[in-house]
Amino acid sequence: MLQERIPDLSKFVEPDRVRREVYTDPDVFELEMQRIHESVWVYCGHESQVPKPGDYYQVQIGRQPMLMVRGKDNRVRVLYNRCPHRGNMLCGDLHGNSGEFFRCSYHAWTFHHDGKLRSIPMMESGYQGTRYGRDNPECSVKPAARVESYRGFVFASLANKGPSLLEFLGASRVAFDDMCDRAPEGEVEIVPTCFRVLQHSNWKIFLENQLDALHPSVTHQSTGRAAHEVEKLIEKKSGKAPLSYHMLSAFATVTIDKWDAFQTLNYPHGHCILTGYMGLRPKDPDTLAYEAVMEKAYGRKRTEEILGVNIHHVLIYPGLSVQSPLQQLRAVRPLGVDRTLTEIWHFRLKGAPEPIYRRSLAYYNLVNSPSTMINADDLENFWKCHQGLASDGGDWVNFARHFGRDIEKDGMLETGPNMGTSEAPMRNQMKAWVQYMTAEK
Ligand code: FES
Ligand SMILES: [Fe+2]
Repeated sequence: MLQERIPDLSKFVEPDRVRREVYTDPDVFELEMQRIHESVWVYCGHESQVPKPGDYYQVQIGRQPMLMVRGKDNRVRVLYNRCPHRGNMLCGDLHGNSGEFFRCSYHAWTFHHDGKLRSIPMMESGYQGTRYGRDNPECSVKPAARVESYRGFVFASLANKGPSLLEFLGASRVAFDDMCDRAPEGEVEIVPTCFRVLQHSNWKIFLENQLDALHPSVTHQSTGRAAHEVEKLIEKKSGKAPLSYHMLSAFATVTIDKWDAFQTLNYPHGHCILTGYMGLRPKDPDTLAYEAVMEKAYGRKRTEEILGVNIHHVLIYPGLSVQSPLQQLRAVRPLGVDRTLTEIWHFRLKGAPEPIYRRSLAYYNLVNSPSTMINADDLENFWKCHQGLASDGGDWVNFARHFGRDIEKDGMLETGPNMGTSEAPMRNQMKAWVQYMTAEK
């Protein structure tokens, strides 16, 4: 049906523009779920979300309800949240602890944490002579085809074939290295709650915004200006405003030309990195105390290397946006062609002093949470974009800013000098999209 209506999906995407149906056609969305989200490595969660045996967390991969669960052997697995008896979801709660085993709430089939069948009520009398029993894999909970983790971040792929997690991540793994290396103990720990935002727009609109370095000084200008006014008043009165004001005022003080000084790096599989940093290495006592702890853990040279990593944002296509220097992560869960759930998480640097966590929390609340004006500004744009794209007012989405000026280096596309606001990251994401959507199956 889809193939009849849309004979050649690659015609939807040109190097500098994309047809609007890519964002609005429900059939395209269904195909995206099959060919992208249910095939590639999708971020499930952090190992510290399930610290004890039996702990589970629900996660959506494409259209599939899944469970991330820790077993008694301490291994974290990912299972379909579906009872093999009559299809009931095994866990209705978003997260919890299953105890010694999973027990289905419908007819009490029980399962080990790896999904294997443990018991069926009256198994002998009920199933003797049938083809069902402990040895039939159809009676166990189906696991994700592949599960791997990198530095505590768990990914699953529902496809048997494809690159390994490390091959898939490629250079984008720096997101996790940068986040964990900034911890004196070399690892992070999840703050066990997150904001969930339901966006009334296609999932790609959110991702395309993440490395859109032109938009902050426009979309967030009013918020940035208001914060800057207050920041100046406080500075006048007390000499120094708290760093949290800078997190907001930067949206006004970092103007378009300054964003152009940053750079984007565009990698295979649609992953992209925005280099540049909002100047969060001040010389205040909290930062100096943290740097002293880091030096004790790593020595001076390595500490400088770690704190000198110049990354603002890493986008791991098609579902993750990481701001590693501030320990923030946003996971994208597409729910429908015009409905997208984002989970907004933040992390603690293990071994770092409390004020460094407070800084991450401030950024989380002030910039990424649904209660801030920054996030609200973006959400309104996303909704308006989707409305406009659903109209007959035009057929194409334009990604031509600095088109033709990207520099190719070792299989990666770098934006040219002083072109940080290039739309190269959007072009790179769409290039990956076409590859996934038209790949031979
Ligand atoms: S549906 Fe799970 S035991 Fe019947
Ligand atoms: Fe924004």
